[in-house]
Amino acid sequence: MCGIVGYIGGRTAWPIIVKGLQRLEYRGYDSAGVAVLNEGDLKLRKCRGKVSDLVQMVKGQDLSGAVGIGHTRWATHGEPNDVNAHPHVSMNGKFVVVHNGIIENYREIKAHLIEKGYTFKSQTDTEVFANFVESLYLSEKLTAEQAVKAALRRIIGAYGLGIICVDEPNALFAARKGSPLAIGLAEGEYFLASDATPIVEYTDQLIYLEDEQVAVLTRNGYNISNFNDDHVDPVITHVDFDVDNVDKGCYEHYMLKEIHEQPQSIADTMRGRVNPENHTINLGGIADAMPRLASARRIIVVACGTSFHAGLVGEYLFEQYARVPVEVEYASEFRYRNPIINDDDVIVAISQSGETADTLAAIRMAHERGALVLGVCNVVGSSIARETDSGIYTHAGPEIGVASTKAFTSQVVVLAMMAFAVGRRRGVLDEATYASLIDGLSNVPSLISQVLDSAAQIREVARAYQLAQNAIYLGRGYLYPVALEGALKLKEISYVHAEGYPAAEMKHGPIALIDNCMPVFVLATHDKFYDKIVNNIQEVKARKGQVIAIVTKGDSEISKMADYVIEIPVCQEALLPLVAVVPLQLISYYVAVMRGCNVDQPRNLAKSVTVE
Ligand code: M6R
Repeated sequence: MCGIVGYIGGRTAWPIIVKGLQRLEYRGYDSAGVAVLNEGDLKLRKCRGKVSDLVQMVKGQDLSGAVGIGHTRWATHGEPNDVNAHPHVSMNGKFVVVHNGIIENYREIKAHLIEKGYTFKSQTDTEVFANFVESLYLSEKLTAEQAVKAALRRIIGAYGLGIICVDEPNALFAARKGSPLAIGLAEGEYFLASDATPIVEYTDQLIYLEDEQVAVLTRNGYNISNFNDDHVDPVITHVDFDVDNVDKGCYEHYMLKEIHEQPQSIADTMRGRVNPENHTINLGGIADAMPRLASARRIIVVACGTSFHAGLVGEYLFEQYARVPVEVEYASEFRYRNPIINDDDVIVAISQSGETADTLAAIRMAHERGALVLGVCNVVGSSIARETDSGIYTHAGPEIGVASTKAFTSQVVVLAMMAFAVGRRRGVLDEATYASLIDGLSNVPSLISQVLDSAAQIREVARAYQLAQNAIYLGRGYLYPVALEGALKLKEISYVHAEGYPAAEMKHGPIALIDNCMPVFVLATHDKFYDKIVNNIQEVKARKGQVIAIVTKGDSEISKMADYVIEIPVCQEALLPLVAVVPLQLISYYVAVMRGCNVDQPRNLAKSVTVE
């Protein structure tokens, strides 16, 4: 939810930390702050707003120091303002802390500290932690590392922490429980960050800290141990990451770049897995789990937001092509119900970030009940990827824009590959149908490129509706989840109220909303619902609604009744969500830009939701 960056080495820490925070701003952008230490002299700068506001604020100041920590915040405790911004300094100025996550028992610790004479400037749980460490350090005469561990043993919650102690200026401390932290290893210097993106331009050697581990980084080396002081030999991961992937390139926004990357990201998702020459699908990541998946009596998909919508497409795919019953659950609901999970059920958890707290909790609950849990994640080494029994990475590349676009299409591709492979193994799919689905999948990147070629025309449609206050999205079958996704995209980045509905449900209520101000986006391609969707369009037009129809290229009937049509190429019905979602992504993007919204960092949102 928040982004953490740290550095210790021979260079000036400030610019490295600031650049890293800019790369992590997708995780939160309510406030930003950096603390650097120069031989015991602490310089702390923080403010409400974005990292660019912080940079502006410190222009011309001397911020030298070769050790430091920084933070970009998505507020949980306390409103976003200068005082609640991280880093937080303990009352006697000994410890400086940045924190991602929530300390659940902070009230109790705060009361105890107040009794001991501690006072607080902010409303944050993080300041409580900083003071708690300091109180243990001073009263029990501990080293900084011992004090940090003593505090960690007593706090409850989820956290990623970066800590410096002014008395020990040659050390940077990091601790993890539930919130990700990566450590970059280089010659005489170490980097700390919430994910790899701020680190990869300096080193490709990374350690992903595990839960309940503490790292002590000094210029002379590092040590990793658990909260009880047992040394841990970490796994060093070599990351193969192109730093250009985390820049905007020639695009004005990450979201636009990521929409345009979809032909490539989908090809990457299929690379080495879908072979159109011999018509095979090879899913190495779940090879061992395949017998259980293929004999599952039921699949339960757990996910949130856009990943949930991808799961709904998966439901249609698995039921049609593998004949396995599927239930798709919001992870936040599933985790607090008392769901019935049988031995022969398989759980599939879908998450771009691999860090979504509700999805992670749902996985843990399913594990406790003995279920096999498979993951569909984009971020390699993420918590969900590590906690699932096996899984398939989407390999869509880093998705920085808060609105999920290329992650959605790659998730749907993974689910399609799984459904087709399971269907074939179960004998539901004959060889010819299987081969034709594989050909269809292989052709999707080129179909999406054709849609992207009409971006200019789609922009003009967006222009016509840029001032709308509301919108309705309608689809049926495979395109119903796309209607939900189109509505989510519009509301999250344009702040326009939008609802997605199965088209036939319109007459059970939403039709009351239709008047000449209501744009209705209808997914009306040539599939088995075509005639029914034409009727739905007529129902909207009869009430003077504005219809924007996504149609199959060459359709001549709907253009006679719709206000605007956007054509997409001919495509197999099961793969339509991958192609039909693209014009809806573009419409949302252009409407948001025309309304002057911050497309990549919409208000109140963060890219990965690591709190409940
Ligand atoms: O990282 P995840 O896929 O688990 O994230 C789930 C949702 O938070 C995410 O899809 C969210 O809905 C996006 N902002 C939608 O664009």
